[in-house]
Amino acid sequence: MEMKERPVGIFDSGIGGLTVLKEIRKVLPEESTVYLGDTARVPYGTKSGETIKRYSLENAGFLLKHGIKLLVVACNTASAYALEELKHNLAVPVIGVILPGARQAVMKSRLKRVGVIGTEGTIKSGAYFDAIKGIDPRVVVFPAACPLFVPLVEEGWTDCDVTRLVVKIYLKDMKKERIDVLLLGCTHYPLLKNAIGEFMGEETNIIDSASATAVEVKRVLSEKGLLNKGHGTTARFFVTDSPERFTNVGAIFLDNGELTKAELVKVDG
Ligand code: DGL
Repeated sequence: MEMKERPVGIFDSGIGGLTVLKEIRKVLPEESTVYLGDTARVPYGTKSGETIKRYSLENAGFLLKHGIKLLVVACNTASAYALEELKHNLAVPVIGVILPGARQAVMKSRLKRVGVIGTEGTIKSGAYFDAIKGIDPRVVVFPAACPLFVPLVEEGWTDCDVTRLVVKIYLKDMKKERIDVLLLGCTHYPLLKNAIGEFMGEETNIIDSASATAVEVKRVLSEKGLLNKGHGTTARFFVTDSPERFTNVGAIFLDNGELTKAELVKVDG
């Protein structure tokens, strides 16, 4: 198979990375994709950096066996801890979600006051904080971990009173800080955009890393002469546990009925 025709590989700790896949398919409809959700070992958001690096290398190894031409690390926590390691070890280009999201946040903030939310691990790593400061040191960053958002989304509770209450509890202090951009630094949070936007009010622009990452994937493929033009595309889904739960819950994330089948695999040797 010609290099251009090879699929784009995407991995996440589980289901949430489908928000990134969805944006990639929107921006690059002519690319084939291979998605791996590490559902047996999810969540990554509460695990140590060392463990996340090991899992990420194993996930990448699996996708490489499927002949991918580029790797997207859709998981924010894995991007925060394992991106450098992956870049160092892989012969294909590797794109994470942190830098594209950070660039977008800095670009959109006129007041230079940006809030960032994510898993415990992502926030503790300081990866978004460092990326934003690296782009513009004048930006004041307000980080907060929101661990309950992931299970709420996976339960399908994106629009209910419990969720609105949890949003209020996590974000009430940040709301007082007069931020004009809130960056959703976790795969699942785009599904809570309405609930978060309602609470934060119109002055706060809610953005996520998924769409910015898809644009970055297109830029890198084009720069390397790897865009797949006019060939047939395929979308394969692999999981490390319970394909059935993945396709059921995945329907919350992908609304076009494209996710009907996921294959069970082992990635840890
Ligand atoms: N995919 C993870 C992230 O974006 C959220 C779920 C998890 O904790 O593994 O950080």
